Amino acid sequence: MKNKRTIPFSTASCDYYFDADATRLEELAPRDRTVLITDEHVFAKHQALFGDFNTIVLKPGEEGKVQATIDSIIEQLLDFEADRTWTLVGVGGGVITDMTGYVAGIYMRGVRFGFIPTSILGMVDACIGGKNGIDVGIYKNMVGLIRQPNFLLYDISLLKSLPEDQWINGMAEVIKHACIKDAPMFKLLEEHKLSDFRKDKDLLSKLIKRNAMLKTKVVQEDEFEKGDRKLLNFGHTLGHAIENMYELPHGHAISIGMTAACYLSARLTGFAETERVVKVLDKYGLPTYADFDAEKAWEILKMDKKRTTQSMNYVLLNKIGKGVIQSIPLDGLQSLLFEFVAQ
Ligand SMILES: NC(=O)c1ccc[n+]([C@@H]2O[C@H](COP(=O)([O-])OP(=O)(O)OC[C@H]3O[C@@H](n4cnc5c(N)ncnc54)[C@H](O)[C@@H]3O)[C@@H](O)[C@H]2O)c1
Ligand SMILES: [Zn+2]
Repeated sequence: MKNKRTIPFSTASCDYYFDADATRLEELAPRDRTVLITDEHVFAKHQALFGDFNTIVLKPGEEGKVQATIDSIIEQLLDFEADRTWTLVGVGGGVITDMTGYVAGIYMRGVRFGFIPTSILGMVDACIGGKNGIDVGIYKNMVGLIRQPNFLLYDISLLKSLPEDQWINGMAEVIKHACIKDAPMFKLLEEHKLSDFRKDKDLLSKLIKRNAMLKTKVVQEDEFEKGDRKLLNFGHTLGHAIENMYELPHGHAISIGMTAACYLSARLTGFAETERVVKVLDKYGLPTYADFDAEKAWEILKMDKKRTTQSMNYVLLNKIGKGVIQSIPLDGLQSLLFEFVAQ
């Protein structure tokens, strides 16, 4: 297969295949010793891809990202008589790739695995970096491991069947990347709109590649999340709190979180481009200034892992393309967030 880029991580390297054709998967994973793991939506839209590969088809949705599903996958792997020489391939969004990576890490103490991401969020975010896992009760991604896939196969033609709301969800992470690390990409997003990317294969392919490599570089430089990788949490601290409170789509929640982080940045770093960020979020169909219960959000937020007793590390912007991590005293943070909601 063409366009291979081998990306070294600390423990293993991963082959990225951009502009690839997913129907040529067999070149990377032998048909008689591979199991594909997918969900019903992806399976229904792309049956030809699965052909006569051994395939496990799961119910779609975050609700299924739990240990019981992992147990059922393990039982099916045993039915296929899969052994240590087999390869597991996750074909789907982040829910499928997270579970595939996790089960590959524990089945027979670890088997080879790769991903064919099928959602924007999967392609630019979830399939990169080797974090794999499942939810436990209300705790997202509470159990899992960090282990790099052997390969990532990017075929953007799979996105043709992706529903509009999932495009919007994924674009929130793209905008996040632009805000923290890539001012020229932010300009590109300003100059275009979602339908341009949906129509223009080259434009889309370049966008996906640019975002995949941006996240890859951040992860490579900080695989175990001691510094710069934290920038990827831009919009996510408040985002996660309100995502749970209102069962918002992830992209919507972090969009509101990014708007609030811009507001905090204006006060704390002298950031002066909030309106540009808000305009882009709005153009890509994402909510910005939303009314939410600030008291309740604060209760959840102050329990966040990124907190010490007196202060919290928060991702802010110095300017577009330049994210920074700043420690904010808790009482100051609380009053700024209340101000943000009250305005
Ligand atoms: N491991 C990581 O570093 C990392 C990073 C970010 C997110 N995640 C995880 O990713 C998950 C979210 O990923 P997601 O947004 O891709 O969710 P998802 O896997 O639930 O996919 C969203 C929806 O789109 C459908 N879908 C996906 N591709 C499709 C296609 N090509 N055609 C038609 N329908 C399609 C799915 O069936 C599902 O209904 C969360 O569980 C999150 O925790 C992990
Ligand atoms: Zn996210």
